[in-house]
Amino acid sequence: TTVEWEAESYDMGGHDTYMHKEIHEQADAVDRALRGRIDDRFSTVHLGGLNLDARDARAVRRVKILGCGTSYHAGQIGAQMIEELARIPADAEPASEFRYRNPVVDPDTLYIAVSQSGETYDVLAAVQELKRKGARVLGLVNVVGSAIARETDGGIYVHAGPEVCVVSTKCFTNMVVSFGLLALHLGRTRDLSVADGKRIIEGLRKLPGQIEEILANEAQIEELAKEYAEAKSMMFIGRVRGYPVAREASLKLKEVSYIHAEAYPASELKHGPLALIEPAMPTVAIVPDDELLEKNRAALEEIKARSGRILAVAHREQEKADHTIVVPKNEDELDAILMGIPLQLFAYYTAKAMGRDIDKPRNLAKSVTVE
Ligand code: AGP
Repeated sequence: TTVEWEAESYDMGGHDTYMHKEIHEQADAVDRALRGRIDDRFSTVHLGGLNLDARDARAVRRVKILGCGTSYHAGQIGAQMIEELARIPADAEPASEFRYRNPVVDPDTLYIAVSQSGETYDVLAAVQELKRKGARVLGLVNVVGSAIARETDGGIYVHAGPEVCVVSTKCFTNMVVSFGLLALHLGRTRDLSVADGKRIIEGLRKLPGQIEEILANEAQIEELAKEYAEAKSMMFIGRVRGYPVAREASLKLKEVSYIHAEAYPASELKHGPLALIEPAMPTVAIVPDDELLEKNRAALEEIKARSGRILAVAHREQEKADHTIVVPKNEDELDAILMGIPLQLFAYYTAKAMGRDIDKPRNLAKSVTVE
């Protein structure tokens, strides 16, 4: 309820910044996003405000997700989850780009606007333009009753609770979890089997405990952050599920530490960015234990061959990396939810080592309500 949220947002509970506090609230936040929504009997989820019955859901031919910044990155992961679990073609695009390219608006496409604040001007304007053209638009929003929540035809509240730090952490995680719920729901109206639905539900239920495990490793991440804080620039890489995780982690580092960071699909390295690799340009690599593990390892070898330093986030120790942050394994389709969490702490501790104003980075506002 609103009262609880207000009380929570003013109590720092021993944390030095809202960013640190909000990173540590993620297990509870995810628990809240799942609560009351799982239907074990039919291995699906109930999303009360969606306003999309099974027939509507089956009629969707394509999903287009729109957001800005971190919310756009959450949308990229969401699009992959929807394709994987529901086999509906899906993609994400920055809302501002979409709005200015006179897009083809298609009645069989389900549009989803993603926003923490629910007030971001470019997202709101994209929603209004879509509605004017007769499209069905859902919201995936944190702030209840916000402009985007009101303008959309239905949607999912992500229930992250109030996020005060300008830099989004727990809301990103809850957005991705909410996309997981939506992908499961859409999948179960189509070809996702009861067994696979059950498998995904079990994976979702494991998340809060696994988040606690990641956060318990904070001391290692703090040490690593101090070591890497000397870098002038960092490269973030991942493939497919890991790529949006790399993009979000690079944004997080830029926002709070002001260290320049680039994010590339690991497969693109040899098409140009490999020229940047040298000892002074460390790489953070997302290396999940999935069907692309060997491909990712090959990228680590290419970097090592150029004397690049590597910090891997992986499900087991990577011998090609100089350091590995080991995270718990979930279902392949859900791994992206967890793999960015240690890198939120990494960005936080890097910024702290550099004496940055973590909750209010220079030049940034919590919600961008102008064009
Ligand atoms: C997140 O760390 C950023 N500060 C920023 O990219 C943010 O995600 C973006 O401005 C979108 O905000 P919204 O989710 O409130 O729409």
